[in-house]
Amino acid sequence: MPKRDNTVSPAKGLFVTFEGGEGAGKSTQLRLLAESLRARGFTVLTTREPGGSAGAEAVRHVLLSGAAEAFGVRMEAILFAAARSDHVEEVIRPALESGTVVLCDRFMDSSRVYQGITGNLEPSFVESLERVAINGVVPDRTVIFDLPASIGLERAQRRAGDDNPDRFEKERLETHEKRREAFLDIARNDPARCRVVDATQSVDAIAAEVLAHVEALLPQRDSPGIPVEEASS
Ligand code: TYD
Repeated sequence: MPKRDNTVSPAKGLFVTFEGGEGAGKSTQLRLLAESLRARGFTVLTTREPGGSAGAEAVRHVLLSGAAEAFGVRMEAILFAAARSDHVEEVIRPALESGTVVLCDRFMDSSRVYQGITGNLEPSFVESLERVAINGVVPDRTVIFDLPASIGLERAQRRAGDDNPDRFEKERLETHEKRREAFLDIARNDPARCRVVDATQSVDAIAAEVLAHVEALLPQRDSPGIPVEEASS
């Protein structure tokens, strides 16, 4: 007779995205979270957008160099979506299916904000691209790093060196403030998925908060075979 009790389907991974404006410290925090989760025994994949797969990395350069800018924001939005589709199908979905925790620096919310809100693209166009690009792979948790635009821009410029802002860092402070508000709107409209973190805090304080927001989703995925009554007694 087949064994039925305690049989669990393979653990599904967890998909966490990090979002926010420039210079909010996302990359550092992503690295720290990956270290914490690995120390707890999870298999973790860190990745980023635009990029993260061979096809998407090829498109990344076209986007960030500004080579696509002259062709308009619709063209840029489609390129971001093309890169995202490749990244999802080649890297993210297979990793999740094998039970990996995937931490991604920027994902669909960046397109909603940068191309949709500050690029002034019509919502139905942005939504259609998103649907095709993510193809059902929605983040389980999105951590939004919130920071006044002036501080973020100053940090990003310091990091890049003043001569070298990328295509999106060059834009005006006002645009960056608009993006900050747009990320906060996303969080307000999707409270089950999103958590906002005050990115003006110390690195350690932010890391602890981020870990708490993600940890809340891990136990039931990590030990699906333990019945709730047993686990809590
Ligand atoms: P990157 O150098 O990875 O910067 P950051 O540290 O700010 O994440 O550059 C990514 C840039 O691309 C960033 O300015 C935001 C922009 N972007 C979009 O406009 N749309 C998108 O969908 C994504 C993923 C990024």
